[in-house]
Amino acid sequence: MIVKKEIIEQTETYVRNELGEDAAGHDWFHVDRVRRNALHICYEEQAGDPFIIEMAALLHDIPDEKLNETAEKGTQKLESFLLTLPLQDHVKKHIKLIVSTISFKGGNGCEPASLEAKIVQDADRLDAIGAIGIARAFAYGGKKGQQIYNPAIQMREKMSLEEYRNGKSTSIHHFYEKLLKLKNLLNTNTAVKIAESRQKMMETFLEQFFQEWNGKTK
Ligand code: ADP
Ligand code: NI
Repeated sequence: MIVKKEIIEQTETYVRNELGEDAAGHDWFHVDRVRRNALHICYEEQAGDPFIIEMAALLHDIPDEKLNETAEKGTQKLESFLLTLPLQDHVKKHIKLIVSTISFKGGNGCEPASLEAKIVQDADRLDAIGAIGIARAFAYGGKKGQQIYNPAIQMREKMSLEEYRNGKSTSIHHFYEKLLKLKNLLNTNTAVKIAESRQKMMETFLEQFFQEWNGKTK
C-alpha cells in the first residue's frame, strides 16, 4: 500500500537523522540490519504483521535510555514522532509496546508483548552476537570508557539494571554477562538457526583472545 510505503520512508529519514553515525554500535546501519533480520524472520516463520514489525524495528532504539538524557525523555521522543504519523491509535500503541518490551536490561527486561515483539527482539539480539556483535561490544565499551578486559574484575551472574548499566565491567565480561546467553533466549526457530554460526564465531574469538592473553605465541 502506497501510504504504508510513505510512512516507512518517513520513519527511515527520521531514524537516520536521530541515530545517524552513533559510534557505539547503535547507528543507522544497526537499525537497518535489525529491520532486515526482522523481516526475514517474519517471512520464514510466516508469522506477524510485516508493517508493524518493520516500524517497530526502525524505531526500536529511539527511546533507548542509553541514547537519551533519561528514559522518560526517550519515551517522549518516540511519542512525539508517532503523533506525526497518519496511523490508527491501536497501531501506534502496539509499536510503542513492542519497543518498550524488547530490551535485555541486564536480564531485567520483561516478556515481549506480542508475536511481532518476539520477532523484533530476536532480530535485535542477532545483531548483538557474531562478528558484528564482537565489533559492537568493543565500540560500545570504548565509548563508555571501559577496559577491553581486566581479570581482577568479577564476572557478574545476576545484576540489577543499575549494576548492568553503571557497574564496573569490561567488554570481554559483557560476552559472559549477556552476549553468550542470547542464543538460549531467542524466541523463533529461524533466529536460533542463524545464531548457531554466530555463537561459534564468538566462542572461537574468546578462545583465541585468552590464548593470546596468556602469552601463547604459536
Ligand atoms: P538492550 O538495549 O537490549 O538492553 P543493551 O543496551 O544491553 O541491550 O546492549 C546493546 C548493545 O550494546 C549490546 O549488544 C552490546 O553490543 C553493547 N553493550 C551494552 N552494554 C555493554 C557493555 N557493558 N560492554 C560492551 N558492550 C555493551
Ligand atoms: Ni538495537
